[in-house]
Amino acid sequence: MSDQKDKSEYGPDEPVIVSKQCKMMNLYPDTYQYCACGRTDDEPFCDGSHSETSLKPKRFKISEPTSVTICLCRHSKTLPYCDGSHTRI
Ligand code: FES
Repeated sequence: MSDQKDKSEYGPDEPVIVSKQCKMMNLYPDTYQYCACGRTDDEPFCDGSHSETSLKPKRFKISEPTSVTICLCRHSKTLPYCDGSHTRI
């Protein structure tokens, strides 16, 4: 049995913990909208699902092709990047 809550169990001001692992991604130069609410169906990018919460996407810019470690627990202090917070929640 999973210890993770269902998305419907989170309050509107509470980001969903999608995973307690981060996600490695190769990103191309562009401006991205990171999903800070954890409710997107286009993980880890915003798809507008935050509209019924008080949470907003976090815009970030990539200037050159880069490998990044993206936070999926939404508790990182350096969103959208992982800072290891998933090991403490
Ligand atoms: S869908 Fe999560 S911040 Fe937009």
